[in-house]
Amino acid sequence: MKKTIAALPGDGVGPEVMKGAVSVLKKVAEVYGHEFSFEEHLIGGAAYDEFGTPLPDATLKSAGNADAILLGAVGGPKWDSVDKTLRPEQGLLKIRKELNLYANLRPIKVFDALVHSSPLKESRVSGTDIMIIRELTGGLYFGMPRERRDGGNTVVDTLLYTREEIERIVEVGFQTAQVRGKKLTSVDKANVLESSRMWREIVDQKSKDYPEVTVEHALVDSTAMKLITAPNDFDVVVTENLFGDILSDEASVVTGSLGLLPSASLRDDSFGLYEPVHGSAPDIAGQNVVNPLAMILSAGMMLKYSFGMDKESRAVEQAVEALLADGFHSKDLDIEGELLSTSEMIEKVMLYIK
Ligand code: NAD
Ligand code: IPM
Ligand code: MN
Repeated sequence: MKKTIAALPGDGVGPEVMKGAVSVLKKVAEVYGHEFSFEEHLIGGAAYDEFGTPLPDATLKSAGNADAILLGAVGGPKWDSVDKTLRPEQGLLKIRKELNLYANLRPIKVFDALVHSSPLKESRVSGTDIMIIRELTGGLYFGMPRERRDGGNTVVDTLLYTREEIERIVEVGFQTAQVRGKKLTSVDKANVLESSRMWREIVDQKSKDYPEVTVEHALVDSTAMKLITAPNDFDVVVTENLFGDILSDEASVVTGSLGLLPSASLRDDSFGLYEPVHGSAPDIAGQNVVNPLAMILSAGMMLKYSFGMDKESRAVEQAVEALLADGFHSKDLDIEGELLSTSEMIEKVMLYIK
């Protein structure tokens, strides 16, 4: 198959991990007889420095016309004082919104080789396999108004959802649960927030269409506790934008490192944007120590979700699994074996692609 992939490295460790995804995909193409071409574009702070905007029109247009998008990470202290509308993060939020990528899938899977890498007990983390489904284009991130008032002494952010926005993400939750462990945990704050009460109503209505799926409503605060004390109790989690952002970074602790979590941002066709859950990691950028596996696994998700290449996607996941089982690891992983730099990890994953 021939595919055009937009590669948006971004800032900080973004370019370092993007090299990993591109190299591994080139190896996959070679082994499985595909033709992948990569078009690189600026986003985030790098785009701001060059063009004065974190999402140039050319980036949005080319990315939207590609078969799928890979994104490294955006942001960093260098841009902390730029106008709020031009921050690197605005580029990321805008590309998600403009391309209607409302469903963010964040798998939390514990590799057997890493059950000791987590600060949590092996007996608790072993076998964990959760799919967090985060609503990505609504809620507090996008609701208007969002402004300072009264000369800067009052501030407002708005948590806004339409019924349709909640229905479509809840539908993704049910469909995902139906083909996995048939358990859906809908996470909200319905004891306080009106938006959460409507969210619950919609989940209850939809559950009638999925009689095989067991539904559980859970409050976000206690879910944060249960995610790390009993991660094995979860199958599919569906939640609003901000809750999903926070819970997924928290859940990374179960897997051993934030540097392992991939994600897919999808809409109703096969198009998607694939990026690690982690950020630009300014504290380690440029040192050749960042773990490239979250980005490489995101490329693996792209093969499956956008290109329907299931065996190629499994080959990427199995390569990562085998490499870790052989003890090869980056600095963030606390396991016995050989410590590798980012570029060495990338070379190694390529060797394991079968
Ligand atoms: P971060 O995820 O960048 O880093 C958090 C911590 O985890 C750091 O200590 C970092 O070194 C470590 N870490 C992250 N990824 C790692 C990896 N692959 N390998 C090894 N260690 C890793 O979060 P932060 O420090 O809160 O944010 C830094 C910047 O990144 C901010 O500007 C933020 O807005 C941005 N950010 C961007 C994205 C994105 O582009 N999708 C996501 C999150 C944060
Ligand atoms: C993420 C990030 C982004 C988010 C930021 C950088 C805007 O934290 O992808 O998880 O909050 O969605
Ligand atoms: Mn985040």
